[in-house]
Amino acid sequence: MPAVDPVDELFELTRALRRNLVRHAAGGAWAVQGEPMARPAMPAGEAVEPAEAAEPARAPAARSSKLEVIRAELGECTRCKLHATRKSIVFGVGDPDAPLMFVGEGPGEQEDLRGEPFVGRAGELLDKMIEAMGWTRASVYINNIVMCRPPGNRNPQPDEVASCKPFLEARIGAVAPRIIVALGRPAANTLLGNDAPISALRGKFHDRNGVKVMPTFHPAYLLREPDKKREAWADLKLVMAELQRLGVEPPHRG
Ligand code: URA
Repeated sequence: MPAVDPVDELFELTRALRRNLVRHAAGGAWAVQGEPMARPAMPAGEAVEPAEAAEPARAPAARSSKLEVIRAELGECTRCKLHATRKSIVFGVGDPDAPLMFVGEGPGEQEDLRGEPFVGRAGELLDKMIEAMGWTRASVYINNIVMCRPPGNRNPQPDEVASCKPFLEARIGAVAPRIIVALGRPAANTLLGNDAPISALRGKFHDRNGVKVMPTFHPAYLLREPDKKREAWADLKLVMAELQRLGVEPPHRG
């Protein structure tokens, strides 16, 4: 019998518990039975200012059409050499109004074939992580720093990242998430403009032009190093607590 990964079990258990969401009348706070969420301690020097005021009303239709304009502008892109080997341009998916965005590195084989980010094994784990947080794939926005598959799943090269970055910036601007989860070092370095290892970046929020970024381990890395899932889950719990603090609730389940 295959050994059961305790953190996979934790993700599964948390997803099950999420189905029994308990809404607290007072203040509209929410929690999970048996798992009250502690507010995270902000690491010294890394604290990000609390939101000044409530967000203006969101207009999903407008955001959706902004994304359509960005996709149209991209066209059948040949701005970098990745176009020569790709099968698909893998644009972002999810809610154009999502307060929570995930940014990965670049499409792999499955994503290139299907034209959708995170649909392979790493994507299955990402879906579990998102659901354990109380969200769904459809209620967050998922995209990558580059939209075409780097051959052999190598890391995207600086010129490729540079060509795609204006479109990443445009998607972030259109969706206007409150929090971005950067999956792995290339995503974190691209978003934060640094070259630090993921182990030095994860576990705390970083400010990016007023948007909070939480770097964490890439799900493909977690598949190879399952012991690291515990730390990734700790990062995601900080995100959940910060969303709660910002008054952003996960989608309601029927
Ligand atoms: N890895 C990524 O970084 N992105 C995907 O879309 C799939 C795997």
